[in-house]
Amino acid sequence: MIIGFIGFGEVSRNLVRMISSPDITFITSTENRSPETIERVKKSGIKVLDTFSQVAVSSDILISATSPKNALNVAKDYGKLTKGIYLDLNNISPDTTFEISKHANNLIDGAIIGKISSSNPVLYLSGLYSSDLLFLNQFIEIKIISDNVGDVSRLKLLRSIYTKTLSVLLIEALETAGQYNLEDEFFDILTLTEGENFREKSLSRITGTRKNSKRKSEELNEIIEYFDENELIMVNAALKKLIQ
Ligand SMILES: NC(=O)c1ccc[n+]([C@@H]2O[C@H](COP(=O)([O-])OP(=O)(O)OC[C@H]3O[C@@H](n4cnc5c(N)ncnc54)[C@H](OP(=O)(O)O)[C@@H]3O)[C@@H](O)[C@H]2O)c1
Repeated sequence: MIIGFIGFGEVSRNLVRMISSPDITFITSTENRSPETIERVKKSGIKVLDTFSQVAVSSDILISATSPKNALNVAKDYGKLTKGIYLDLNNISPDTTFEISKHANNLIDGAIIGKISSSNPVLYLSGLYSSDLLFLNQFIEIKIISDNVGDVSRLKLLRSIYTKTLSVLLIEALETAGQYNLEDEFFDILTLTEGENFREKSLSRITGTRKNSKRKSEELNEIIEYFDENELIMVNAALKKLIQ
């Protein structure tokens, strides 16, 4: 079996590390790629073809893991060249996933939940051919949602309603606790009910949200626009707080 990568960053590098089998050959290309990516490919030791088109034609499973911005163009360029499965792992909206389905053969909508470098990321899949990837379960936990491309992207956005709004709420609660000099006690009292790692998890969310506030507000906007028929009062409030 040949698994080809368009995009060889953190995701692809870690997938190669996790999926170690003598029956699988990994391929990619370094065509027009940055020195960092070329170095990453070299270190991983996988087979390098001259062009991404050759990668697409040769793959039984073609994985697109580039960036949300490039996902659609990559599908337009290579999606019809592969006769195998086209697995899109980019963080994209359901609308982009539907657009990609017009350009890629045998599309599977995929999402990595949890950081790919963590000890237990889970790969969510939807689309008619998802069960063809069940064999990957021996390397990474696989969850198949449905036969419908778009369900995983939608589920990811639903998850973000909770995680991204909660991060902004945490910022507000902590700021308020700070005014009364009760930050440590704020974390202690919540740890009693929310679980052992509450402080670490919250601080990591708060830091990430503050550091990437522009991107986070764009992501909140994307949620609001996608679910425009629902009145997402809390998400709107989080957005207002983030851009104030
Ligand atoms: N990292 C995670 O834990 C995680 C989790 C969930 C989802 N994702 C999603 O998975 C995707 C990949 O993430 P990542 O962390 O692996 O990103 P990354 O480390 O930034 O790597 C992106 C890779 O894609 C390449 N690339 C960009 N445009 C390309 C194109 N048009 N043709 C071929 N290669 C191209 C880049 O090459 P250059 O260096 O030459 O630009 C780089 O090798 C993203 O859409 C991300 O949102 C990531």
